[in-house]
Amino acid sequence: MIQTEGITKSFGNLQVLKGIDLTIDKSEMVAIIGPSGAGKTTLLQIIGTLDSPDSGRLTINGTETGLLKDKELAAFRNRNIGFVFQFHQLLPEFTALENVMIPALIAREKPAVAEKRAKEMLDFLKLSDRMSHKPAELSGGEKQRVAVARALINNPAVILADEPSGSLDTKNKEELHALFFELREQMKQTFVIVTHDEQLASSADRVIHIKDGVVSE
Ligand SMILES: Nc1ncnc2c1ncn2[C@@H]1O[C@H](COP(=O)(O)OP(=O)(O)O)[C@@H](O)[C@H]1O
Ligand SMILES: [Mg+2]
Repeated sequence: MIQTEGITKSFGNLQVLKGIDLTIDKSEMVAIIGPSGAGKTTLLQIIGTLDSPDSGRLTINGTETGLLKDKELAAFRNRNIGFVFQFHQLLPEFTALENVMIPALIAREKPAVAEKRAKEMLDFLKLSDRMSHKPAELSGGEKQRVAVARALINNPAVILADEPSGSLDTKNKEELHALFFELREQMKQTFVIVTHDEQLASSADRVIHIKDGVVSE
């Protein structure tokens, strides 16, 4: 479902990725691990089409993303990729419900439909009584669950998460990881997760190790 072929990326004269070949199947949960500075975030940004490789090919759901024009790529990203970052990156001026609705509105969903679906997602993530709160009024774990709801709203082909539990305490971390596995079981959701958490990595279907710009499994 996701395929990378020979992806390279340099910043100045630092070559971070030296030819990354990966195949990730539908409903697979893949953990990416590796030392700090190894290029994990760079790779995730490239898989998420937020950054482009210097060379190589990325194919998601049969679409070769390098062939899309900017506008097409933005629409493709909006519909196919959900992001969860270490620090939620919710918009502070908007409520939890509004934050979750935004990707659906960008996808030109009718507001009433977007709202209904956002409420269902928040309900599924046990946040029904938090919907009208702004991020500052939510706990760290709640904010991260709102970010997961936002990532899910357009029913993406894949969720990309970059150290999603990196800023959570043990209890919230375990809850978030349990949620990922629940989504994988119930919705066949595909995940690619960069993590330092050994427990999460060891429960994933596959662990990809990035070191010196290449992968080893
Ligand atoms: N936009 C950028 N400009 C210059 N250097 C960068 C940029 N992004 C990342 N790097 C460098 O590339 C290397 C890999 O970074 P990153 O992908 O963030 O690693 P990781 O997520 O594995 O810790 C690091 O040495 C980092 O400093
Ligand atoms: Mg990183």
